[in-house]
Amino acid sequence: MIEVRKRLKVTASDATHPTAMQVGEESEFARSIEQLVRLVRPLTIIETGTYLGVGTTSAICRGLAALPQIRCEFHTIEVNPRHYTAALVNLAERGYLRLVNPLNGLSLPRSLLPSREAIRRYTVDEPPGEDIFVDFPEESRVDIYFRETEHADCPDDLLDICLRSCGCRPDLLLLDSAGHIGFIEFRHVLDKLRGQCFFALDDTMHVKHHESLVFIRRDPRFTILRESADKFGYCIAKFTPA
Ligand SMILES: C[S@@+](CC[C@H](N)C(=O)[O-])C[C@H]1O[C@@H](n2cnc3c(N)ncnc32)[C@H](O)[C@@H]1O
Repeated sequence: MIEVRKRLKVTASDATHPTAMQVGEESEFARSIEQLVRLVRPLTIIETGTYLGVGTTSAICRGLAALPQIRCEFHTIEVNPRHYTAALVNLAERGYLRLVNPLNGLSLPRSLLPSREAIRRYTVDEPPGEDIFVDFPEESRVDIYFRETEHADCPDDLLDICLRSCGCRPDLLLLDSAGHIGFIEFRHVLDKLRGQCFFALDDTMHVKHHESLVFIRRDPRFTILRESADKFGYCIAKFTPA
């Protein structure tokens, strides 16, 4: 029998193409997040994947800046120390450091990070969908994804620390970290949530959150508020525990 591999579309996502990595200030996703923050009036927000701080993190801050009457705990998690340092500078320049608590470390426990073999299966041999996006050319993909989360000296499982600080009842979770761990992160937080929470997932037509979106569509605890094919797709959904 001839095995036919699922077709993937490769993004130009690397440090030399920051526009593929980051959410543009004027993008539909950035505007939706800003609007969501103003509507939800959240008291706790947790974000993974700060990157340079100028995309989704700044969009959340713009939303919070329009709500001076509420005091929100907004944690954003970034594993790469260079990205984290650049984000501190960018957020300070924008006057947003009073609104956000940037953290340097891994969102997940190290024990949940996939091996090179698992990354190869998920992003090359047996991707979770047909015609979805993936980052990096095939020959370097596994290595780049593996290295993206391989930071031995930083703290790990920051999601758990942030979740416990609010009794596992954040009002908004924005997940936008590495392409090969999106669904792992999604399930990790879902298992811990104790209250109603809005989810904003970036890259739902991408290996990052394709499976998370399929899960959301099937799970009655979720109500999809917005689904878009803009850029690599995004979704905003409300989770109500059973
Ligand atoms: C796609 S970029 C995020 C883009 C950002 N949200 C924006 O709008 O500009 C992904 C970022 O997540 C970081 N990252 C990847 N895996 C991570 C993890 N497990 N924990 C924390 N940060 C992670 C990467 O270093 C990178 O800076």
